[in-house]
Amino acid sequence: MKINDEIIVNVEKITPQGEGLCRYGEDKFVIFIKNCLPDEKIKIKITSLNKHFARGEIIELIEPSKKRIKPFCPMYNACGSCQVQICDYDYLIELKKEILFDIFKNEKNLILPIIKSPKTKEYRHKIQFPARETKNSKRVLLGYYKENTHDITNIKFCPIQPEIVNKITEFIRNNYKLGCYQEKNKTGLLKHVVMRISSSDNGILLTFVLNLNEEKFKTVKNHISDFAEKIKDEFKDIKGFFVNFNDKNTNNILGNKTIKILGDDFILQKLGDKIFKIGAVSFFQVNPWITEELFKVVKENIKNNSTILDAYGGVGAIGIFASDKARKITLVEENQNATKMAKENYELNNFKNYEIFSDDAKKRFKIFKDEKRTFDYAILDPPRSGVEKEGLEDIASISKNIIYVSCNPITLKRDMEHLKTLGFEPQFIQGVDLFPYTYHIENVILFKKEQK
Ligand SMILES: C[S@@+](CC[C@H](N)C(=O)[O-])C[C@H]1O[C@@H](n2cnc3c(N)ncnc32)[C@H](O)[C@@H]1O
Repeated sequence: MKINDEIIVNVEKITPQGEGLCRYGEDKFVIFIKNCLPDEKIKIKITSLNKHFARGEIIELIEPSKKRIKPFCPMYNACGSCQVQICDYDYLIELKKEILFDIFKNEKNLILPIIKSPKTKEYRHKIQFPARETKNSKRVLLGYYKENTHDITNIKFCPIQPEIVNKITEFIRNNYKLGCYQEKNKTGLLKHVVMRISSSDNGILLTFVLNLNEEKFKTVKNHISDFAEKIKDEFKDIKGFFVNFNDKNTNNILGNKTIKILGDDFILQKLGDKIFKIGAVSFFQVNPWITEELFKVVKENIKNNSTILDAYGGVGAIGIFASDKARKITLVEENQNATKMAKENYELNNFKNYEIFSDDAKKRFKIFKDEKRTFDYAILDPPRSGVEKEGLEDIASISKNIIYVSCNPITLKRDMEHLKTLGFEPQFIQGVDLFPYTYHIENVILFKKEQK
């Protein structure tokens, strides 16, 4: 096999990364193909190749799946943001279930039906658009990167984001005149536009990520402030306007410092009978329409009057949602913007018995272990990289019940295997579809320490 070979293959299954897995020839050489469905017969062209596997692209659908449909977004093929709009939502949920069966082969009997998102369009309430401009006319471009590139698809309409996003981005395109970032020579001011939107009162926090530091910002402050006034006047739902400084040449969207230019510090998001302040750049689940279901899974598995460690706790959301079951909540979160807001959230929800550690989680787990502190429940909700060995070993000695919330089933499986060696057994695996039209799956697993 070589690059540009054209061959016919059948799609065996979808991998956790959302690619179709095909096998070719006597040695069943593995080929990954995007944008296909199980059982399809396709003609492909090989685009890359190594010793272990190849990648290819579809050049002809010989026998399309009966489940195949036309993507509902006109930009689907140009934009790299949604991974899968080629089947309906129910079938996508079936595919996600198969992916979980594949990852958790030995725990299949523990996998519960995935909880579907009640809203599958306009569900994404956190937007991060890179900003660029056209070479000659300097028109502002805002959208998503085309897959595997840093070329922007200028998105004028995105069906998975609230409609107001289209209007705000169009306003920025037409009215923002201070220039956008150019990757080639690392110059230009506006790098990203970030929006955070509440689903309960439509409030919006708008952040411009700028390619300079706080000192240099003084030179453009007046212009940015004028623009902030103008856009806030146009859109009453914009509650606050912020600037984040990021003059580093990294893949991180945000720099370390964010300042408010005008308006409120937060928006309010209601979930069940609890209410949360969300900041411009602190973490909150992107799909608020199903977050309550996710948090309910956690809460339902906590006994009354418990002590709870809410680790990787963000603005305190999961712990506060479950606080009716809590005697005391201990929050550990490294982001200080988030812990500041968490404090306000405990007060807002009238929960008094809390403590907050603005700290690296693993460092704090070790201190708790050394202090011989214990908790009835440890909620772990780490970033995609998971918790890993050392952190799990310390957690294992401070709590007999672990509720692990994860947006990455691969690192969750790895951490599960390690927890098993520490005497913890998974009780169920509950998938929650926070990310319709992508292959991402959020999961909750309750682990209990086996009694000897
Ligand atoms: C997936 S979010 C979960 C937030 C929160 N549980 C929620 O549902 O809103 C992960 C959080 O972990 C925090 N985080 C990342 N690395 C961390 C670390 N090493 N120590 C403590 N917190 C960390 C992030 O700032 C983020 O708020």
